[in-house]
Amino acid sequence: MLDGKRILLIIAGGIAAYKALDLIRRLREGGAEVRCILTRSGEQFVTPLAVSALSGDKVYRDLFSLTDEAEMGHIRLARDPDMIVVAPATADLMARMRVGRSDDLAAAVLLATDKPVLLAPAMNHRMWLHPATRNNLAVLESRGVLRVGPDSGDMACGEHGVGRMAEPAAIVAVVTARLAGSGRLAGRRALVTSGPTIEAIDPVRFIANRSSGKQGHAVAAALAHLGARVTLVSGPVDLDDPPGVAAIHVDSAEQMLAACRAALPVDVAVCAAAVADWRIANRADQKIKKGDDGPPSLDLVANPDILATLSRPGPGRPILVVGFAAETSDLIENARVKRDRKGCDWIVANDVSPASGTFGGDHNKVVLISNDAPSEWPRMDKRAVAERLAERIADALEAAS
Ligand code: CTP
Repeated sequence: MLDGKRILLIIAGGIAAYKALDLIRRLREGGAEVRCILTRSGEQFVTPLAVSALSGDKVYRDLFSLTDEAEMGHIRLARDPDMIVVAPATADLMARMRVGRSDDLAAAVLLATDKPVLLAPAMNHRMWLHPATRNNLAVLESRGVLRVGPDSGDMACGEHGVGRMAEPAAIVAVVTARLAGSGRLAGRRALVTSGPTIEAIDPVRFIANRSSGKQGHAVAAALAHLGARVTLVSGPVDLDDPPGVAAIHVDSAEQMLAACRAALPVDVAVCAAAVADWRIANRADQKIKKGDDGPPSLDLVANPDILATLSRPGPGRPILVVGFAAETSDLIENARVKRDRKGCDWIVANDVSPASGTFGGDHNKVVLISNDAPSEWPRMDKRAVAERLAERIADALEAAS
């Protein structure tokens, strides 16, 4: 699957570095050429000899090595590979990436590259949860850096929590999905919206809805799995970012629209977010106090319609725009009307009445409304709905090209 692909593996310093050896082996078994950079702290955990023996190449370690620079300068190291994988990605290296440091070979290469970068973070769970790390990661992901893991479980430091490096097989799966020409959506770009949006009333209160983001996140994962380069723009949800997807986190509809615009151009856009239809016009800058005048009245103003905006004809319109229709009655008819009103190509209609258990649940029963006759899919888990939709999207894009 990875025949002829060139991977630059950066091994930073963490106990999980031992798994990088297995990763090298698996990538090479998949047909990839693997070149490795071992950081100074990485050398504390695995030896250059082991890395070199497994990769079948010399190991790059020093930004200022005269021989390395003459043979394979750091700019070439940054530009040659099809993908750069950082495993383990430590909190320190991510912090240095965020601010654009170039104080060692790994950081300099990451700063100089224009190739996709996949991070496999590994660290103590408190380091992972620290606002500094969260913030650094959010910035990196907003720049399109990909991530896989970390997993949760027992850690080498004796604690338990989220922070274990993803297993090598999972990392290889993301690399393969991203790079393998076999992915039906390889070379395609996709944009997915997911989750609710929340609209502030004042600094502490907001209006929200019950969207879990499960369906939208599953669509993003399924598209990425077929090889698409996916940007996921998500409102606040209690879900991990899907592996191999560039996730951008927003709160409000206006922020979601801005992030979607920034992600264009794409081949396909799937709007699965439950965008709030209205926001507060008279939003307070300070917390509203209970005065003598009784409860405040909230003036609402319409939010931009992201799906309709992306569907608007014109240069740069995605080849395919897919919306979801959350309905509680007259599913097909309401969804048809919605498709015409918004100008999208397909609508995935789903029943979100409380009895359906769709909102927040793991299953969905949908009807795909396109130019053809409505296609009713059986009740499936949301991941299966997403996989089927991704295959249909791949069919449509292939037919269009
Ligand atoms: N949508 C959007 N931006 C909005 C509202 C909705 O992009 N401001 C998208 C949703 O992501 C979904 C589709 O439009 O793909 C339909 O959303 P839905 O909530 O079913 O419809 P509404 O437009 O909100 O219409 P109504 O509430 O009247 O059913």
